[in-house]
Amino acid sequence: MRDEAQGKNANLTIAFYGRKVPNHPLQTMSASHLDQLFEFLRFQSVSTDLNYAPQVALCAEWLEAKFRGMGLDAKAYATKGHPVVVARNEQKPGRRTVLIYGHYDVQPVDPLNLWTTPPFEPRVENGFIFARGAADNKGQILAHILGVEETLRSKGDLPVNLIFLVEGEEECGSDNLEAFLEQHREELSPDIIAISDTGMVAPNTPSFTYGLRGILAMEVKLFGAASDLHSGIYGGVAPNPATLLARIIATLHNDEFRVAVPGFYDSVLPLQDWERKEWSRLPINGEALKGMIRSPGLLGEAGYTAVERMWGRPTAEINGIGGGYQGLGSKTVIPREAFAKLTFRLVPDQTPEKVEAQVRAHLERVCPPEVRMEITPGHGGEPFLCDPGSPDGLAARRALARTWGMEPALIREGGSIPILQTFKRILGADILLLGLALPDCAAHAPNENFPVANLEAGIRMNQSLLEELAAVK
Ligand code: BES
Ligand code: MN
Repeated sequence: MRDEAQGKNANLTIAFYGRKVPNHPLQTMSASHLDQLFEFLRFQSVSTDLNYAPQVALCAEWLEAKFRGMGLDAKAYATKGHPVVVARNEQKPGRRTVLIYGHYDVQPVDPLNLWTTPPFEPRVENGFIFARGAADNKGQILAHILGVEETLRSKGDLPVNLIFLVEGEEECGSDNLEAFLEQHREELSPDIIAISDTGMVAPNTPSFTYGLRGILAMEVKLFGAASDLHSGIYGGVAPNPATLLARIIATLHNDEFRVAVPGFYDSVLPLQDWERKEWSRLPINGEALKGMIRSPGLLGEAGYTAVERMWGRPTAEINGIGGGYQGLGSKTVIPREAFAKLTFRLVPDQTPEKVEAQVRAHLERVCPPEVRMEITPGHGGEPFLCDPGSPDGLAARRALARTWGMEPALIREGGSIPILQTFKRILGADILLLGLALPDCAAHAPNENFPVANLEAGIRMNQSLLEELAAVK
């Protein structure tokens, strides 16, 4: 599917990056782009697991050095967590200030055994770079960095005052970024923020993302007897937390797969006619998605298309569930506890605070008194929606059109970037999302990948974007 989708160019790229074309005129330059991405990808910058903290810090240092090497003023700032790297060109009066945000941290690699080759040993196959972080987000942020480097090299200056802000905690909730922004708000006051940490709807289909879902994470634990018990001796008497947890989490949905938490849909903005129409024309639908995720079927809220359910409707997901015996064979035990990890994807105008209260009330209502329930809220992030017809939105769309030679698709996406609303609130600037990852990039999963062609397109897109944004009045 991939080779077809990428068309003839893919073959050129493969030959080129596989170094099968000797003395190609661009070989030195572009091979160095790929080499640099490989260096960036080799850092095991897993932010959620503190065992990797030294690797995360080394990655931040590498970025700082990269920015300095390009002639930018750069610093990796220590935080209570992982460093934030900020870089800027000389800020001159009379031109617009653009902040480009990205993250250098990555998700954990497990299940490791499902990777074809090791996640931190990047490789190219059929024009795709495989490595943890290739798409989310190292490939995308490096495209911007290399775009700026190219412009500085060819023109000596940028058309804008530029600030790069690359953080190391996006994949674990950006816990320390808000305080950092508050502390540095004076030096960080852009006219507009641009981010490539989202996706393209299909290969070679430039996409402007005007909405993202928000998120609320939560862990539920049930406790029964003080210790594990023999399920023969005590079965029929002792409450089984695993059984009861299964019943409780089953109440999160009704039979039509609507979320059954009272009040959950109260502040959900209905999809607008124009977006439903625009989305129905895109090269993506339920059938294609089913093939892409290689699932026997699709499942979701009745009354909406698959795309609408992913981009414009809220969900409740059980991300993990556990308790009791997990080893080989069987063990006759009534576990003393069981847990489930939940996340809710939110759409405008839901808020994580309100949904947390609704879910908590619901869980407490359905939990029987024979077990004790403990609810631990996790990270939250508000949904995002912007006007794709704003002057900066139109400029971004022109940059995408120039890069790919066609008008960009106007999409929303299901993922979340929790820090977006914090950016808007503290820095007071609008946000543009110009994603470069493909739908089957396997972000957060084994064999994450990113097309070499998108690295190169991203570099050109950055150059057009800064020109277009510079010209906005
Ligand atoms: N880049 C993603 C978000 C994303 C993915 C947006 C695909 C649009 C399309 C980001 O790094 C991410 O994975 N965010 C997390 C949130 C976080 C709190 C762990 C997510 O969406 O699960
Ligand atoms: Mn990301």
